[in-house]
This record gives sequence, structure tokens and C-alpha cells, in this order.
Amino acid sequence: MIWGRINNGIKKFEKENNMKKVKIGFVGMGHRGIHLADLYHTHIKDCQVVALCEWIKPLLEDGATRLGDPAIKTYTDYSTMIKEADLDAVGVFSDADTQADLVCEALYAGKHVTCEVPLTFTIEDCWKVVLAVEKTGLKFQLSEQTRYWPQIRAWRKMVSEGKLGKILFVEGQYFHNCDGLYWQNPVTGVFYKNSELKEGLNVRKTWRNGMPPIIYLPHELSPLLSILDDRVVRVSCMSTRPKSYCLENVDMPDFEAAIMYTEKDTVMRLACSFTVPRYYHGHWYHIWGTKGVVESNRAAKDKMRMWLADSMKESDNPQDMEWKFDPDDLPKEAIGSGHGNADYFPAASFIESIINDTTPPMDVYESVETAAPAILASISAEQNGKCLEVPDFRPGAKRKVGCEPK
Ligand SMILES: NC(=O)c1ccc[n+]([C@@H]2O[C@H](COP(=O)([O-])OP(=O)(O)OC[C@H]3O[C@@H](n4cnc5c(N)ncnc54)[C@H](O)[C@@H]3O)[C@@H](O)[C@H]2O)c1
Repeated sequence: MIWGRINNGIKKFEKENNMKKVKIGFVGMGHRGIHLADLYHTHIKDCQVVALCEWIKPLLEDGATRLGDPAIKTYTDYSTMIKEADLDAVGVFSDADTQADLVCEALYAGKHVTCEVPLTFTIEDCWKVVLAVEKTGLKFQLSEQTRYWPQIRAWRKMVSEGKLGKILFVEGQYFHNCDGLYWQNPVTGVFYKNSELKEGLNVRKTWRNGMPPIIYLPHELSPLLSILDDRVVRVSCMSTRPKSYCLENVDMPDFEAAIMYTEKDTVMRLACSFTVPRYYHGHWYHIWGTKGVVESNRAAKDKMRMWLADSMKESDNPQDMEWKFDPDDLPKEAIGSGHGNADYFPAASFIESIINDTTPPMDVYESVETAAPAILASISAEQNGKCLEVPDFRPGAKRKVGCEPK
């Protein structure tokens, strides 16, 4: 059990370290950072939040007020927080396109790091983070939580036990209309919807406004690759035009759809959009094996489904399913932690990996194996679907630990 291991790890650390807590600081007090800082502060018992950093002052103040502990130090400059705060670890929950530099700065300063999805927008950054982790030997975990959802856990078990046979085809999509997150006042931190923009308003584009949507695929690749125990080796992608049809003033395609091929011979079809209306809102996954099919619900009121060759006729419709957390087996700290109780798990497992000196469940290699195919898909889309190879980031015969790729 994942949470059983977490609790055991925490107990071991308490014994060996005289109840010492992992001291952690966070950068980025935006939507995600403020929620996660509060989660670590209130739900993750064996860590202590000691510092917050945000360069928009009202947001920094909101973060400090939400946590409500006057001992927590606040910073507007990240390098100062890294140098001056007494930190064992850092959570990077800032603008997604510049997170990798902050991750590397913390690692080279001797701090363990967790970072939000998507790790970065470039392959160069993926290598920088891999090398920083290898050279420092510190913990790194991507803060991806959908892999902890009950259906994903159930399917991972079914696939590992061969219940679905050889997995041939996998689909994933993430459609989430983000109107209201594309324009922000850089002084107050207030966000504006597309329809609220007017002459004289002090706004700048946020990091989301211009992001190729397919770059946000780690939320699909993390659960799907964890089920397949596999990595993507080739990628091709198509896109609508680089300017939204749905939201005026948003410079990103409405749809990008990628075809990916894995090392273990599975084909994947994946799509992202962050501007289209909310018909099918959220994440959707579909797994097709030689002995069965499982899929999640596309719309909120749809059912999840399963068809199994061993127990059903070919003419049978897939049966409606409801994969849920077992309430007796769900830590109380996870309940209400966000995203269907899943936000707790990456946070708890990151702290556990530090406490117990173990490799985090989503280590740096699994992290870049979800980021790099997404980045290459966005490049492929710019090159009319050109098929691109995904580098192998793991050390081996061709590359030693800590060495640059040739
Ligand atoms: N896992 C999830 O479900 C989930 C959900 C939402 C967002 N995210 C991820 O979380 C991260 C943050 O997203 P968000 O929605 O909170 O964005 P946001 O724009 O609301 O917040 C980012 C904040 O970081 C601050 N910042 C950036 N660089 C900084 C620096 N060097 N020093 C100090 N402050 C800095 C910005 O001022 C901004 O307030 C992104 O990587 C995003 O993709 C993940």
C-alpha cells in the first residue's frame, strides 16, 4: 500500500531523527502554490513550512495569511530565500516555463525539490534537471497526482497481473477551459477573463497564454506510463492554427493531438485543449488490451466502463464501473486534499522519500519521461507532424551518471 509505506517511512524517520521535521519553502503563491503550501502546512504532518516566496506582493501576503503562522518567513526574491532560509527542501510551483531553472538552483544549493507539472517547456531543461539530480544525489519528484486516482491504481494492478493482456492502444485527453487565467495584473495579481479586457487595464500575458496545449500532457502520460511501465520513444503531433478560435487575445492553438509509440510496442493517441467550451471537461483515459478494455468517464455524469474477454462475450456491452478509494484504506489527511483526494499523495511521498532516504515514486527519470514527449509533440506540430525521437534520459551504456549526453 502506498500510504502504508508512507506512514512506515515517517515513523522510521521520527525514531532516527528525534522527531525532526523536513523544513520546506515554496516558490509561487499563485493558484496552485497557495493550495499546496497550505496542504503541506495542514495535512503533511512530518514537514514544517518555513518560507514562502512570490514576487507579486499581495499574493505573497495572501499565502502568509492563509498559512497563518508568523514564524514562516516571506521572500520576494527566490535566490535570497534559497540562501537565507533554513531549508531541507523546496517546492517549485511557479510559472511552468521557467520552473526548471528554479529547480536546478535549489538542487545545487543542496535542497531536495518537488516541482509542479509540466516540469518545463524545453528538452534542454529536461537534461539540466536530470544532470542536477544526478550530480547532487538529492531527491526530485514531479508533483503529479492523477496517477493516484483509484481507477489508475486499479488498472495498474490489472495490467501488471495480465488481466487486460498485451496493451495495444491507449488514449488520454485533457480539456480544460482556462479563460480567466490568461491575463493578470502584475502588481495586484488579479486575473482577468478574455471578456474583461479593456483599454488602459494594466495586464500582462500569463505563462499559460501562448503555451502549446500539448505541453500539458504530463497529466495524461504520468498515469498512463505508470500503468504501462513503459516510456515513449517516438512522437508526432498535429495542431490547429497558433491563435485560438474560441478565445480572442489568446495566442495558442485550440487543439493539439499527438500519436506516440512506446518502447514496449503500444500506440498512444493523446489530445489537449485549454480554450474550448467545457463539453467534455477534464481528464479521460482509455486502455485497450488483447484481453480487455477499460475507460474512464468523458463527461461528469458518464460512467467508467470495462470489458473483459475472460468473463464476457464479444457481443456484450462493456459494463459500467465505479472505481473508488476504499474509505477504510484512505489516510484521513488525503480526504479533501484536492483533485479527488489525490493531491495528498505526491506531497506525502516526497516527504517520505527524504525522511527514509528512498527514491521518490515519480523520480527524475519518470518526470522527464512525461515532460519530454509532450515538448517534442509541440515541436512536431510546428513541423507539420514530423516524427521525432524521444531521448533516453536514463544512464546506461551510452551515458554515465552525471555526464552530458553525446
Ligand atoms: N497538478 C495540478 O493539478 C496543477 C494545477 C494547476 C497548476 N499546476 C501547475 O502549477 C504551477 C503554477 O500554476 P498556477 O496555476 O499556480 O500559476 P499562477 O500563474 O497562478 O502562479 C504562478 C506564480 O509564480 C510566481 N512566480 C513565478 N516565478 C517566480 C519567481 N522566480 N519568484 C517568485 N515568484 C515567481 C508568479 O508571480 C505567479 O504568481 C504550474 O507549473 C502549473 O502547470 C498544476
